[in-house]
Amino acid sequence: MMIKELTLSLAVALGLAGAAHAAGSEDSHVIDYDFSFEGPFGTYDQFQLQRGLQVYTEVCSACHGLQYVAFRNLADDGGPGLPEDQVRAYAAQYEVWDEALLDGEGDFRDAVPTDKFPESSLSNAPDLSLMAKARAGFHGPYGLGINQLVRGMGGAEYLTSLLTGYTGEMKTEAGATLYENTAFPGGWIAMPQPLYGDDVGYEDGTEATLEQVSKDVAAFMMWTAEPKLAARKQAGFAGVVMLGVLAVLLYLTNKRIWAPYKRKAKHDVPAE
Ligand code: HEC
Repeated sequence: MMIKELTLSLAVALGLAGAAHAAGSEDSHVIDYDFSFEGPFGTYDQFQLQRGLQVYTEVCSACHGLQYVAFRNLADDGGPGLPEDQVRAYAAQYEVWDEALLDGEGDFRDAVPTDKFPESSLSNAPDLSLMAKARAGFHGPYGLGINQLVRGMGGAEYLTSLLTGYTGEMKTEAGATLYENTAFPGGWIAMPQPLYGDDVGYEDGTEATLEQVSKDVAAFMMWTAEPKLAARKQAGFAGVVMLGVLAVLLYLTNKRIWAPYKRKAKHDVPAE
């Protein structure tokens, strides 16, 4: 009896929590933007990743780190694909702490391609390396996340919606300034609006509208979180094709093995 009651109240509590969660995610407004890397054959757009890197470097890196990403990966196929000399020049803009310098006392030196990006310089700004995979854009229906099957997790969509979702309203709460944002759960975020459009000058002639710079840096964060996306999809496709061929062969083999017995049954051949 006790246990039955307990289970019942637990179920009710869970149900309520689920409903509250669903209601909570309703007010975070995420737009289903299109990205080149969506779908079973989608890949990153190399030039978009290069533009996103530029936005990160010129704007976001003032506060946010990318401590799990190595500079040399900027040269990878399927990623931004920077030439080696550009990667070296890019890395050299950063300084890293090297324990081995000055007879073990440690000192700063220019970063080289094998180093990683620095940590966040602002203590309450989260690291962005895995951010695109740590956030989901789509939660419904009823908080079950079923529409992620069709639309994907929506990490990049959430990030784009976050960066374009400022209303301009702000408030002070317990000494902290909060900014109203239509995508951020709860509606108020501690990050001041980082992008307004025309924040960077793109060399490839792309117009730097707010939506464009936001999408570019979101795509770049998707790449830092999943640099091997193209390889994963290729391996998956090869696997599906192989299983398809195997299925056909198995079907034919099966047919052949059973052929004598089936013939017998159909035409009722008398036993020898
Ligand atoms: C002035 C410093 C500053 C700059 C510049 C800045 N951010 Fe932030 N960012 C923050 C802080 C602080 C937070 C934590 C906000 C919070 O938890 O309320 C944050 C949080 C975030 C989050 C996490 C949101 C979440 O769902 O938890 C993302 C994503 C993000 N920033 C992306 C960016 C991008 C992309 C840029 C560059 C276009 C950028 N930020 C520029 C300070 C900054």
